[in-house]
Amino acid sequence: MSEATARGSMGRRRFLGAAAGAGVAATTVGAVAWGRLTGETTGTVLASRGEPAPQFAVELPIPPTARPTSRKNGVDHFDVEQREASVEIIPGRKTTIWGYDGIFPGPTFTGRTGHKAVVRVLNSLPVPTSTHLHGGVTPPDSDGYPTDLVVPTKLCGQKLRGGSPGMSGHAMSGHAMHAPASDWHLSPGSKAYEYPLDQRAATLWYHDHRMDFSAPQVWRGLAGFFLVHDDEEERLPLPRGEKDVPLLLCDRSFEADGDFRYPAKDPTCTGEPGVHADYMDGVLGDVQLVNGAPWPVLDVAATRYRFRLLNGSNARRYRLALEPGPRQGVPFTQVGSDGGLLGRPQGLQDIPVSPGERYDVVVDFSGYPVGTEVTLVNTLGKDRMRQVMRFRVVRRERDDTHVPTRLSSTAGALDPSDAVHVRQFDFRRTGSEGAQAMWTVNGRPFSTSEVLAEPRLGTVERWRFTSDFHHPVHLHLAHFQVLTRDGKPPRAADAGWKDTVDVRPYEVVEVLARFAGHRGRYMLHCHNLEHEDMAMMANFRVV
Ligand code: C2O
Ligand code: CU
Ligand code: CU
Repeated sequence: MSEATARGSMGRRRFLGAAAGAGVAATTVGAVAWGRLTGETTGTVLASRGEPAPQFAVELPIPPTARPTSRKNGVDHFDVEQREASVEIIPGRKTTIWGYDGIFPGPTFTGRTGHKAVVRVLNSLPVPTSTHLHGGVTPPDSDGYPTDLVVPTKLCGQKLRGGSPGMSGHAMSGHAMHAPASDWHLSPGSKAYEYPLDQRAATLWYHDHRMDFSAPQVWRGLAGFFLVHDDEEERLPLPRGEKDVPLLLCDRSFEADGDFRYPAKDPTCTGEPGVHADYMDGVLGDVQLVNGAPWPVLDVAATRYRFRLLNGSNARRYRLALEPGPRQGVPFTQVGSDGGLLGRPQGLQDIPVSPGERYDVVVDFSGYPVGTEVTLVNTLGKDRMRQVMRFRVVRRERDDTHVPTRLSSTAGALDPSDAVHVRQFDFRRTGSEGAQAMWTVNGRPFSTSEVLAEPRLGTVERWRFTSDFHHPVHLHLAHFQVLTRDGKPPRAADAGWKDTVDVRPYEVVEVLARFAGHRGRYMLHCHNLEHEDMAMMANFRVV
């Protein structure tokens, strides 16, 4: 059954679920048993139709950089249009995408710490959208809340089911997510999102966050990079320019004619939300894309490169490695995490990346003879999904870059004694299999009007995440540091400031989160987008 979740094990799974709720000891036992049951991925593979897409047949595309349309009083103004477009992803076939500026990934926005950016998103799609800057320290009304929608002008006043314009009364959408009428905020045609960017240099990304429909709308292409730079980062002798490469990793499935395939109950995204019951654990594609291209190739010089790795997949997890590895030294030198530069670099043999996470790494190709083909692999993937992309070392070149032993003086470690509050959030499936089942936080499906925590602005809290499956837990606004995994010190790859953390089945992950920047309502949620759409979100309010 390759990578698909062992669906026959529901009885066992429920038993373990119950046991895990009973305490930490049971949780640990559950984790061991789980590893044998399902391996490392939660989700079900959706097979593509038609001729398989060729591997290593296309060049790695680099998304174009967005240019500001104006620059007034130190504020950069950008315009971007969400629209449908027909693009060639698999050679010789056409795919209809929903993209920012009609491309997938969308244009890469760049900003500077302390310099506000305003991005006006014009929605020309046939569906409402909400754009979230993931990792952004953003005021609540620009944060891309799921019911804060940009409604295409031609849909204004029309009634759609499932989290949509024109709703009245107490709406209950497809997966029992609650949103009273007063909580829908509709912007007709476009919305100007304000990003103060009062935050460290970091690899952020933006994507759709529409209530009930984030998973299918991101699958169709609504995602891109947003890079924040600052002086400290710019002074470092790290690879730059064309040797600073953003890599958006995601899996997709395709119809025979080249269109995306996705198991939506309503592929138009205007009716009933959600996926067919078999895919409720998460949708896994069987074609690996990097920057929107299947298993692409990048020609490299035998020098250092900086790669900004982003897992933009709906549900797929990666453990990235290089094959062959370098003859000496480690394959990856990590320089940054979700929240920016680490204090000091660290070597990693492989990199676990769950949906939503970013890893900023330097790879040194100087140890490879010219002519070597180096494959970036996902050791959690099977068959063709074990490969991600390929680097071809094509020339020698002078390299005056290096990775200094000190990267950042603003990476400061939090101390457990800084925490003024301890809270627990349990990520779990409730209800029976099929239509009644849903994904919950502390036993509750998402409701816009319910607030699970009220941290104070400027304080640090210790948050404990427990789970029954793989749940990549993401916080809006607040950045955090991982404190423990199952009561033990975190793994090396947990280092630095983060906004998303990989929580594995029956694992207990504790983080120290700092609530800074803005007061207001924000969310924490699972970044498996199918789980997210099926109610695994919750609000916290910074007071
Ligand atoms: Cu990248 Cu609320 O998500
Ligand atoms: Cu986010
Ligand atoms: Cu989840």
